[in-house]
Amino acid sequence: MDSFTKKLLSFLDGSPSSYHAVENVKNILEEAGYTRLLEGEKWAIQPGGKYFVMRNQSALLAFRVPAGSFSGFMLSASHSDRPTFRIKERTKLDTPGDYTRIAVERYGGMLMSTWLDRPLSVAGRVLINADGRVESRLVALSKDLLLIPNVAIHMNRSANDNMSYNPAVDLLPILGGADCKDDLMEQVAESAGVQKEDILSADLYLYNRQKATVWGSREEYVSAQGLDDLQCAFATLEGFLQAEEGQSAPVYCLFDNEEVGSCTRQGADSAFLKDTLSRVCEALGMDLRQAMAQSMLVSADNAHAQHPNHPEYADVGNRPQMNGGIVIKHSANQRYATDGLSEAVFRMACQKADVPVQDFYNRADLPGGSTLGNISISQLAVSTVDIGLPQLAMHSSYETAGVKDGGYLVRAMAAFFAMSCQELA
Ligand code: CO
Repeated sequence: MDSFTKKLLSFLDGSPSSYHAVENVKNILEEAGYTRLLEGEKWAIQPGGKYFVMRNQSALLAFRVPAGSFSGFMLSASHSDRPTFRIKERTKLDTPGDYTRIAVERYGGMLMSTWLDRPLSVAGRVLINADGRVESRLVALSKDLLLIPNVAIHMNRSANDNMSYNPAVDLLPILGGADCKDDLMEQVAESAGVQKEDILSADLYLYNRQKATVWGSREEYVSAQGLDDLQCAFATLEGFLQAEEGQSAPVYCLFDNEEVGSCTRQGADSAFLKDTLSRVCEALGMDLRQAMAQSMLVSADNAHAQHPNHPEYADVGNRPQMNGGIVIKHSANQRYATDGLSEAVFRMACQKADVPVQDFYNRADLPGGSTLGNISISQLAVSTVDIGLPQLAMHSSYETAGVKDGGYLVRAMAAFFAMSCQELA
């Protein structure tokens, strides 16, 4: 296994929630000499400095200021969240039989069947009363704790035909027997190293206990939960750290809440990026609008590979393959932000890095999904290309991608971050 894939697997296993993903990125940046800036304080930004800012513990922006003068920003964006179930930690369910179930609600649009019949656990954060101050503790229970059981085929003969899942009925996980009603928050408190009485509130989600793995006859594939979009989040981070200094300031963005529309304080549809870049420009005596005209964003969110059993869902003539290179996403109606100009700059970066590129168009009669690119543009006018790594089973609790593509993205982004971008004359 190559060293990037090895690091990717441990990043994926160590990031069972968006809070953990951001915490891991933070640790990597601190190790690489980046200074954390707090939004609530004055910023002393120096040429040659390396910084990062966090919001809500679930989104993070990192940037380097070149030592010499520079004209714009070269940006990447990816997202820290994935579809899952949020735990209603105060809800007590009246469960028939000798069971305790926990109440959950859907977060994002998941493939529901992939959450059944597998060990699950809980990750997120708790907010505690620490001597009159609200403090946060990340928590990830590292045990097989919960399971959502299927109904046997003998009781539901049509289960293989037209199964539909009602999240209020079919997707409630079992915690244990009837006597463990209070166990969940006790175990959460213990894992967070706090007293249960000190917990004021919590943001807790289910995660799949199946570890990330590399598989296939020639170890071609990587499978894990949250590959969309942690594979891009991690690969763009590596590219950001490896890039040589150029004529622009590189900016790495990791937003939360893409799976629920990005319209939160820490989502791509917030002013987080604009707030941060305005403060950078102010500190350096630059005009943000002038800088944005000479900037470019790579919005990196995973793409669909052609499915082996359902090749018909791919557009005729555009069938991205895993391990075939980075996918550029196109949409005539601009559901993807890619246009000729942003595509040209990104293709140039891929050429420099000697990285293969593929194209994705939705089949003309399928609407397809949306992503981060257009949303961030609504806050900040910057030329944007939407790209991703080809994967299968998007929004399953266990997704599959190509082993080679992550390394391609690292190299392409290292080349991209070292470039600069002029306004088209
Ligand atoms: Co995504």
